[in-house]
Amino acid sequence: MREGVRIGFVPTMGALHEGHRALIRAARLRCDALVVSIFVNPKQFGPQEDLVKYPRPISQDRALCRKEGVDVCFEPTVEAMYPSGFQTMVTLPMIARRWEGEVRPHHFTGVATVVTKLFGIVRPRIALFGQKDFQQSALVRQLAKDLNLGVEIVVCPTVREADGLAMSSRNIYLSPDDRIRAATLYKSLQAGAEVIRRGVTDGETVRSAMVRVIKNEPAVTIDYLAVCDPTTLDPLSSVTRQAVLLGAVRIGATRLIDNILVSAKQARRSFE
Ligand code: PAF
Repeated sequence: MREGVRIGFVPTMGALHEGHRALIRAARLRCDALVVSIFVNPKQFGPQEDLVKYPRPISQDRALCRKEGVDVCFEPTVEAMYPSGFQTMVTLPMIARRWEGEVRPHHFTGVATVVTKLFGIVRPRIALFGQKDFQQSALVRQLAKDLNLGVEIVVCPTVREADGLAMSSRNIYLSPDDRIRAATLYKSLQAGAEVIRRGVTDGETVRSAMVRVIKNEPAVTIDYLAVCDPTTLDPLSSVTRQAVLLGAVRIGATRLIDNILVSAKQARRSFE
């Protein structure tokens, strides 16, 4: 029975790490019954992407859920989620068209569709997502609002390794050398944030500071680095309030994304 029970929900694709643990713990504090879904959603992978090799350590995932007091670990099959005759896909708001949406054209349609289905099945009052996937969180917020899904979306801070690398299930793809190089993405975002904090407002100058850091590491190539409005995700020519610095890079065959939110010097002053 849903009535009177506040269901909290953490949707995942498994290969759970400390970032997921933080979401589960944050959810636990906010609900009566906690559901975690583990479903590697084929509809959000492009044809050349890592669907087949995506890690699936299901026993470890179940153990983590048990330890964290998850009430239901929901593990639907592909056939249950997409039975023969399945036809409906969710189309995307503007916010999903740029950045990840451009580089991975099928991705967000798959995310929007599976999240809508999962919300329909689990009927949560609250659902938690990690800030690491900033554009995904913005998309889910928009979706929940536009389609009146009756679920509150909470976005929790990115959990990082000691050198700043954002935790991700895909980090295990990195070779030891690439793992060291991987921290360059966060360093690049930090360099951009530092320029903003020093009072620079020109978006292109901030972006150049980010690009410079990546160019120092020839094994890392840029998919995009951008200085954006955190609500619309449009690029900012001038940073006068808050900005989100978005980045996606490739290291060997591995693709990493990350972001940080930063307030312009003037905007910070007005809160002091
Ligand atoms: O962020 C993820 O793990 C996935 O995109 C999600 C939200 C579980 C949908 O498959």
